Amino acid sequence: MDVGLLLVSAAVLGGLAGILALVLIVADKYIADYGICKVDINRDPAVSFECRGGGNLLMALAERKIFIPSACGGQGTCGYCKVEVRAGAGSVLPTERMHLTRTDIRRNVRLSCQIKIKNDLALRIPAELLAVQEFACEVEKLEALSHDTKLVRLKLLDPAAIAFKPGQYCQLNVPRGYLLRLVPPIFEPIFRAYSIASMPKDEGIVELIIRLVPNGICTTWVHTLLAEGDRVTITGPYGEFYLREDSERPIICVGGGSGVAPVRSIVEHLFDKGTQRRVDCFIGQRALRDLYWHRENVARAAHHKNFRYIPSLSGLEPGDAWEGETDFIHLVVDRSIDDASDKECYLCGPPIMIDAVIAVLKDKGLPEERVYFDKF
Ligand SMILES: Cc1cc2nc3c(=O)[nH]c(=O)nc-3n(C[C@H](O)[C@H](O)[C@H](O)COP(=O)(O)OP(=O)(O)OC[C@H]3O[C@@H](n4cnc5c(N)ncnc54)[C@H](O)[C@@H]3O)c2cc1C
Ligand code: FES
Repeated sequence: MDVGLLLVSAAVLGGLAGILALVLIVADKYIADYGICKVDINRDPAVSFECRGGGNLLMALAERKIFIPSACGGQGTCGYCKVEVRAGAGSVLPTERMHLTRTDIRRNVRLSCQIKIKNDLALRIPAELLAVQEFACEVEKLEALSHDTKLVRLKLLDPAAIAFKPGQYCQLNVPRGYLLRLVPPIFEPIFRAYSIASMPKDEGIVELIIRLVPNGICTTWVHTLLAEGDRVTITGPYGEFYLREDSERPIICVGGGSGVAPVRSIVEHLFDKGTQRRVDCFIGQRALRDLYWHRENVARAAHHKNFRYIPSLSGLEPGDAWEGETDFIHLVVDRSIDDASDKECYLCGPPIMIDAVIAVLKDKGLPEERVYFDKF
């Protein structure tokens, strides 16, 4: 058969398949009518609701001010938006599988951003998630902590106070006006997760430490346009990564890159409360220009016998005047901790760093159930 004819046929078939897929998507979006669907939550009429079918569950919940964690804005990549769907969601989708464990599937846990509401649903949402609130805030202070990292202090306006545990995070909404001005414009809501870097006792403010990600949607807005006095909204608090205060065990904290933020909240809170627990705080950055929250820790170590501070700069630049550690932080932890069997460990930073530190500490006897971490 003529090769040219084969290629043309393949192209025509491919084109037809593409058009058909597009027609199906448009038809499903604009023509399919799923009618009014009931979303039952915890069999509680006060929070259950009805909505027109067709939208995704995560957004439908957010519209009713029920904020499920989401770090990817509903793209199905973060796996944070899990909810227990007791009935009505159909079978698990291929886009959910990589984020669901066998136990999740057995317990009917699903990714809410992937579930399209086509019929009545029955959900179980834990009380702490139903307690997540939306806060209107004013940017009270912006401060450059390093060449690519800013401290953003938000004053809470409505509600005027937040209750959270050190280590938890909130989600910052990117303003719609900014998203519409992008090329190409973004029409869906965008929000990003940021660990709360301030202490729970300062309930009227939330401090975030935000590192610029080149071409990142939210961080470009924060670093180039956000100004003191601007109004923003956050939701929170979220997360299972938080300080266990019912324990007296010695603590190991490790923060790498922008993972310093929740470690700052945990350490500042502990010493503000006059903790007697031993705290070893390891901070991993690349060069001197990346290091912040340093003088505070040096001073704390000088004043508190139960606090040890070990920063390490693994990518020193020419001219950096530094006499401290220069290895990757897991190697520094390895050298500095003999026995981890009685410790409790809080880790935050890039996945590769966290996996390496966990491997080191497990070798030194740290039980898995006393390792808490947030990877980002
Ligand atoms: C629980 C949690 C807590 C977090 N806390 C903090 C915090 O305290 N401070 C902080 O700065 N960030 C934190 N993050 C990361 C934050 O949520 C955003 O992912 C990050 O700020 C990038 O958002 P963006 O919209 O600017 O980039 P996007 O537009 O989402 O990403 C743009 C591109 O950059 C890539 N990218 C995204 N993040 C990174 C990264 N870190 N390094 C390299 N490439 C990246 C993406 O894959 C994409 O290709 C946290 C994340 C989670 C899940
Ligand atoms: S919101 Fe990220 S996977 Fe659902």
